[in-house]
This record gives sequence, structure tokens and C-alpha cells, in this order.
Amino acid sequence: MSEHITYDQYRAMLQSQVAGSLEKIKEIKRSTSVVGTLEDAWKARLNKCLRSVLNTDDANKNLVHPPKSASLQWAPDYALSMFSYAKDMGLNPMHLAKNAAERITPLTVFSRVEATGPYMNLRLSDDILINKVTEILRKGKDYGTLTDKVGKAAIVEYSSPNVAKPFGINHLRSTVIGESLARFLLAVGYTVVRDNHLGDWGTQFGNLLAACDEYAPDCEFTSFSMDDLTTMYVRFSQEKKESPRLVRLGREYFARLEAGDTKLLDRWAVAFNLSLKEFSAMYDRLNVRFDTMLGEGYFVHDSIILVDELRNMVSSELVVYDKETPAVYINAEHVVMIRTQDGYCVYAARDLATVRFREQTYSPDISLYVVGDEQSSYFRSLFRVAEAAELNTNTDGSSMQLEHVNFGLLLDESGKKLSTRKGTSGKLEDVLDQLNERTAQEILSRNPDMDEKQLYEIANKVAVGALIWNDLQTDRTSNVRFDINHMLELGGGTVIDVLYAYTRTCSILNKLDSSVEKLLLADLPKEFSTETEHKIALMMSEYGDMVRKTAEARAPHLFVMYLQELVQLHGRFYEESRVTGLDNPKLASLRISLHYAYKIVMENGLGLLNIPVVERL
Ligand code: ARG
Repeated sequence: MSEHITYDQYRAMLQSQVAGSLEKIKEIKRSTSVVGTLEDAWKARLNKCLRSVLNTDDANKNLVHPPKSASLQWAPDYALSMFSYAKDMGLNPMHLAKNAAERITPLTVFSRVEATGPYMNLRLSDDILINKVTEILRKGKDYGTLTDKVGKAAIVEYSSPNVAKPFGINHLRSTVIGESLARFLLAVGYTVVRDNHLGDWGTQFGNLLAACDEYAPDCEFTSFSMDDLTTMYVRFSQEKKESPRLVRLGREYFARLEAGDTKLLDRWAVAFNLSLKEFSAMYDRLNVRFDTMLGEGYFVHDSIILVDELRNMVSSELVVYDKETPAVYINAEHVVMIRTQDGYCVYAARDLATVRFREQTYSPDISLYVVGDEQSSYFRSLFRVAEAAELNTNTDGSSMQLEHVNFGLLLDESGKKLSTRKGTSGKLEDVLDQLNERTAQEILSRNPDMDEKQLYEIANKVAVGALIWNDLQTDRTSNVRFDINHMLELGGGTVIDVLYAYTRTCSILNKLDSSVEKLLLADLPKEFSTETEHKIALMMSEYGDMVRKTAEARAPHLFVMYLQELVQLHGRFYEESRVTGLDNPKLASLRISLHYAYKIVMENGLGLLNIPVVERL
């Protein structure tokens, strides 16, 4: 039995969400103290030195990590190729490399600078990297939080499942990618409003409400379960094919709904609330929270007004045909349907109204739509129309940038599209249950004496992590294979490898009984004892730059690749550099500090992907 909720209560609930998110925007941080990264600091100095020699202001963008070279007796961290500069300046690249190296040599951030043929090779000093390790320990959870975009606001719209249907596996990618991107944008300084644009309006709701009266006229609406509603809806959709009467009935109900029939709106609110309860249970499991859940239904009234306005809008590009085909055209190319023949507003009309609402309510800098590839051309046209009608522009002339963050399909083990309809996959809930069970078995096989409560606590976290890692590991624009067996494989580049390395670090640190406070007071050496130690410190010092790169490219897979490499490097460090039984206490402190810094970086990094860490596996 579902809870009784009226349409007015539904509106009040959403309005309070808007008010809450608006508070966030109003409190937008205006701080100007810029937190940069280690690279920001030394690259600025590098640029300053190189400006006159290379005739450029941005030598940094050509810096690369060079591959290992057998002919070189030392290991540079970066290399800068001189070819393009030499060509532009009409000089010999080898001479240029030599000149540049001479200019850089006095910089103390580098322990070695050398021209090797047409390249300039650089190695950061151990000293500066050791300072960075200390900084990681000092900043802890705040390590990697940047201020690049402080003062800017972003709307991230994601998940957006359709109401009165089970939460399908097809909305999983949007949920996972959107949540992670929201976290990356926060990390670079944006104030973020997370919005869920639920599919809760449209002619199908006319059919749903008509079906209830048709098949269960004597039942209280609040007595229906989600399954009851789905069953009646499916039956109605079937029988409608043969029955013009039912077709008319569905339309009539929708017309009443859109016109604001109080009884139907209240029923609609009950159905909405029922779905919301189900979705919320999913979001809880996935640790996803929205600021607002402004579904399509929230914009019905606005869209009716907007469609009328669009018909009268004078713009050189924008043409509205509202006779036979109620659509907006731009340059006879971008066609966006805004009304049905019967005069109802459709999906796109509500989207256009949403654009205007967001601009006028929040006036954000960017608005991201995390939606699958299938809607790419739709969004291209939608954005063009919204821009031509200046719906994304405010009276002060500022405008928000509209951006479709597209992604590929989810495929089953045999490479076919996963869908809720064909029965190849069930509800996301069932999939998650199955994944939890498999994870629990795996963990139990390695820890036969773990008690059941702890086992399931860990398994639930690992299962969610496995699902998210599997998704974000792939470039979002590619298709993703959804294969539970693969996700849990140890040694297959999965989250299991990552979490396993993490738990190992935790147990080392627990055994040593060492704390950050103690380490921060410890005397550290000026040099690392192995090349791996240098490299892992270097990689951890690049964390902030990776956060920035990932946020800018809206590409969590770049970050997953980074973490994967870091895990491997840490594996080598763990093998090579023991932390107990050392005669040299300074070296011991340094190595323990590296483990600690690694733990912090992994915890923060996995947090940006929304993957929970566990201390045992
Ligand atoms: N509910 C839609 C679907 O399941 C996705 C909504 C995408 N967002 C938007 N603003 N149109 O296909």
C-alpha cells in the first residue's frame, strides 16, 4: 500500500528542494586564494625560464613522461621535444635543446636537466617530492581539492529514470558517470547542483491512470503497489492496440491531467511517490544523492507558456511551424518537435522550459546532461534552439553553456545490448543483489572465518565499487561490457585489485601503529632510497593535475587509468622497500609516509569515483 500524497504536497516538496539548492548557489565561494598543484608551481617557473629561448608561453603542454630508455644512464621524469619550436624558429633542434637546458639548470626544483639530442630531459629533485609527500599527509581529505573554478556554478543532470517503471539497468550508466562527474567538478571548485530529471510526464501517464479506472474502478488508488500499476499499464497498452475506445480514453485522461484535474493530479502524485521510494532505495545503495528531483512534470505549466511564446518569437534563425507539424526549426536543419497534433506539449518543450528555469533560477556557468548516445542528435538540436531563443541567457547577458555528456551502451556477456524489456536483465535491484551474493562468496573463500554481518557489510561496498569501476574504466563514449564474473576477477585490472592493495596498506599501517601526526613531526631524509620511491611520489604529486584533466575532459576513465598505474607502482614499492627492521629511522619514516600518502590518495581518488573503500577484503 502506498503513502497518500497530494499534488500540492508534491509541489511543496520540490519547491523546498529548489530553495535548498538555491541557498547553495547563493553561498557560492568567492575566495580568491588559489590552490594550485605542485606542477602549477614548477611549471610556472619553467615557463618563465624558457619563454625567451623557445619563444613560447606554454612549453608545459608539450612536456611528456618519457618512456624508459636503455641508452640513458639516468631516469628523467619529463621530456620536452624541441622539434616544433626549432621548426618555427628556423633553428637546429639539438642546439635549441642545449640552450634550453642551460637556461633551466639553475632551477633547484630539478636535480638534473640535460639535452639528449633534440630533447630536453628533466628530473625533479627528491627534496621537492618529499615535501609533497608531507603536504599529502598534512592535507589528508583535502588533498587534491583545487580552486580553479571557485565562484562558478554547475548543474549536473543525471540518472533521470522513467517513473512508474522499474529502475532499469539502462539508467545505471548515467547515474554512475553523473555522480562521478559531479564529484570531479566539486573538486575543481564548482558549486554543483545535482539534478534528477525524472521522466514523470507524458501521454503514458494518461494511459496509466485510465488503466486503473478501467480495470480496478472500485479500488482506492493508494492501495496499488508498483507491480499492480505496471501490470495494469502493460495490459492497457496491449488491449489499446485493438481498441479505439481505450486509445481515446487514454488521451482523454492525459488531457485532463495536463489541464490540471485535481483528482488525477493527486493520483499521479501517489504514483510518482511510489516510484520515488523505489528509486531512493537504489540511490541509497549506490550512495547517490540529488539536490533536486525536478522531473518533467515540474515543467508542464512552464512549457505550455513557453511554446506559446516561441510561436511569437521573432528571430532570424528560429522558425516555428505550428500548423501541421508543431515544431521549431533552425536553418531548416535542427528540428525539434514541441507539440503533438492534439496540442499537447512534449518532451522537448519541457526540456526547453527546463533550460530557461535553470538559467533564471541559478544562472549557472554550465549545465551538463548526462544522457546516452541515442539522444545525441536530439540534444544537438535542442541546444541550438534554446540558444537561438536565448533561453540560456540572462538579463545581464551572461549565459550558461549547455553540454551533452553522452555515453555508450551497456552490453551483456555476449556483447548484446542489455535491456529490461527483452528479459536479458532484470531490474537493477536484482542485478545488485546477485552481485552482492557473488562478492560475498568470493570474500568468504579467502576469509572462511569472517562473520556474516561483517561479510555482507564489506560485500555490499565491494559490489557497488565493482559495478562503478567496471563502468568508469571504459571511455564513456564506448560501450561497456556488463559481466559480473569479470568485475570480480582478482588480477584483471578490476576494483578488487585496487581494494586489495588498499587493504594491504591499511594493515601495514595498523601494524606499525604510526599516525599522521607522528609522521609530520618525524625527521625525513633529503633523498629517496630507490627509483620506485621517487616515481610513486612523483605520481602522487600529479594527483591534482589528474583531477583537473579528468574534470575538464569529463572523462573519469582517465582517472581510473591513473589509479591503476599507481596501484601497480605501489605494488613494486611494497615489494622493494621494507618498513620494519631498518637501521635508518629517517628512511623508515619516509617509507611509512609514502604508504600513508598512498592511502590518502587512494581514498580521495576512489571517493571521486564514488567507490567506497574497505579495510578488509
Ligand atoms: N528520462 C529520459 C530517458 O529515460 C532521460 C532524460 C534525459 N534528460 C533530459 N533533460 N531530456 O530517456
